[in-house]
Amino acid sequence: MTQQQWSAVDAYLDEALVGEDAALTAALETSAKAGLPAIAVSPTQGKLLHLLAASIGARRILEVGSLGGYSAIWMGRALPADGRLVSLEISPAHAAVARANLHEAGLEKVAEVRTGRAADSLAELVDDRAEPFDLVFIDADKPSNPEYLEWARKLTRPGSLIIVDNVVRGGALADADSTDPAVVAVRRMHAMVAADPGLEATAVQTVGSKGYDGFTLIRVTATA
Ligand code: SAH
Ligand code: DHB
Ligand code: MG
Repeated sequence: MTQQQWSAVDAYLDEALVGEDAALTAALETSAKAGLPAIAVSPTQGKLLHLLAASIGARRILEVGSLGGYSAIWMGRALPADGRLVSLEISPAHAAVARANLHEAGLEKVAEVRTGRAADSLAELVDDRAEPFDLVFIDADKPSNPEYLEWARKLTRPGSLIIVDNVVRGGALADADSTDPAVVAVRRMHAMVAADPGLEATAVQTVGSKGYDGFTLIRVTATA
């Protein structure tokens, strides 16, 4: 199988099932125009996040890594009118694009982009005793994933779902001797999950327009 085939199937699935609309397409266009890297989740992946958020009846969603707001729009659309999405982004330029795109998608009332190092914003949420989040999507600087899992643990409740993007990394995840900080971090994060009796998890390998990668899916079953 080739990248060309994966992209062709993704294009078919987008057309047949996903139904990306004008606001989502515009979000990618304005992101590209602003010079943001084209690393948002794919439409099929965005729809998966949307379906998962809807399936668990998420009312509060936390995202680590906004980029231009594309994944935030997909997830935010699963929220009820009084729901809340908080997305954390270190780059003020990315955050500005994300805010504009969320506004354009009609989500300005439910979605908020907080600028700063995610670790600092997460600590602030804990300090402020933020209500637990039902869904956490971790998709920022990959070496920090173990740290983000620890924060997510503090900011969730039994029944919450934690999703981590880009865990398979073209298959590099299987290399136990890898020195790639992103791979080392994901493997460490998985060890933390496995050692935590209050978490249950799996991972799904994905192919598509973004190549070969995957998500880790973690369900919180008990408080830490
Ligand atoms: N979730 C987005 C893609 C995020 S790309 C989508 O699918 O649409 C990763 C983002 O994380 C980038 O915008 C990058 O600026 C941001 N980021 C990197 N390091 C960060 C940090 N320490 N704190 C917060 N955001 C960070
Ligand atoms: C990169 C980051 C991502 O979150 C992603 O989904 C794909 C690529 C990157 O930093 O290259
Ligand atoms: Mg990603």
